[in-house]
Amino acid sequence: MSADEAVISTNDDAASCKRFGVDKGYWNDPYIGFFVQKSSARKAPEISRGYYARVKSIETLVKNFLTLTECKCQVVSLGAGFDTLFWRLNDEGLVPQSYVEIDFEPVTAKKCHFIKSKKQLLEPLSGEDSEIMMSKSELHSANYHLVSADLRNLATLETKLSASGIDRALPTVFISECVLVYIEVEATDKLIKWIADSFPTALFINYEQVNMTDAFGQVMIQNLKARDCVLSGAVACASLETQMNRFLNNGWTGGDALDLCTVYKCLPQADVQRMERLELLDERELLDQLLSHYCLVWAYKDTKNVGLHNISLS
Ligand SMILES: C[S@@+](CC[C@H](N)C(=O)[O-])C[C@H]1O[C@@H](n2cnc3c(N)ncnc32)[C@H](O)[C@@H]1O
Repeated sequence: MSADEAVISTNDDAASCKRFGVDKGYWNDPYIGFFVQKSSARKAPEISRGYYARVKSIETLVKNFLTLTECKCQVVSLGAGFDTLFWRLNDEGLVPQSYVEIDFEPVTAKKCHFIKSKKQLLEPLSGEDSEIMMSKSELHSANYHLVSADLRNLATLETKLSASGIDRALPTVFISECVLVYIEVEATDKLIKWIADSFPTALFINYEQVNMTDAFGQVMIQNLKARDCVLSGAVACASLETQMNRFLNNGWTGGDALDLCTVYKCLPQADVQRMERLELLDERELLDQLLSHYCLVWAYKDTKNVGLHNISLS
């Protein structure tokens, strides 16, 4: 398996963990089942609780951004995989002017296929009189775009964003959910800087590993390496400081970096309690250990003063 193929296969893991969590009732997602089959493999409760916190926290920040900008904005999901956030937001009437998903071609080709073959995915894309343009691996509709690009190649990324009608003057939120960690830091620094230089009003939400230099982090790295998957960007995942500084050193003016233990406590506790009753957890320490090795970082650049410093988990 090539290095890129191993990285691409991480999407299958993420999608099946999400499907498992949804089937167990951790959170609601009527769409994930269209992208990934039910698997017989059980996931440990701490994994599902971690995914719950991941999905809920990212969704909260994105909804905050859409509400603040009254949807006169854009969403760009980097390494989107089989994420379903576009359809879930659409169900709540939260549709930005453009929602662009980017991934490697093999991933977007599969996603395109699933969208084409399921009316529940396709119908929300076809607003009044709007045409949908589809190729084997790309799709353009009025508000939703799916394009293939390697995030290490900024020239292609720029072309694909332009082809998706992205307006650099509009407030734009970029999401990377467990993506940057697979890319060399030189390339992610360039990407982060290019976005800051190109979009005067932007928010970047990054969810991924942190504290990777301790013993547990090193085991995570070795386990993935045994599956041919190298965490090429792990240097930036050493601490919350390294995670925050990669933005502050590359053109972003403010933000916050929280580990998932903290994020977990910031989520609406009534729903957390409901979720915790779904499956018994043998050892709370296992969950805490796992959560302390993931982080949620957000960074903003707010040239037009739209109030991006107000974005928070509440
Ligand atoms: C762990 S999966 C996460 C998928 C999705 N964000 C989620 O959380 O469900 C990582 C995704 O990042 C994509 N990815 C990693 N490096 C990439 C690159 N250089 N260019 C485009 N996509 C990339 C992979 O193909 C994969 O779909």
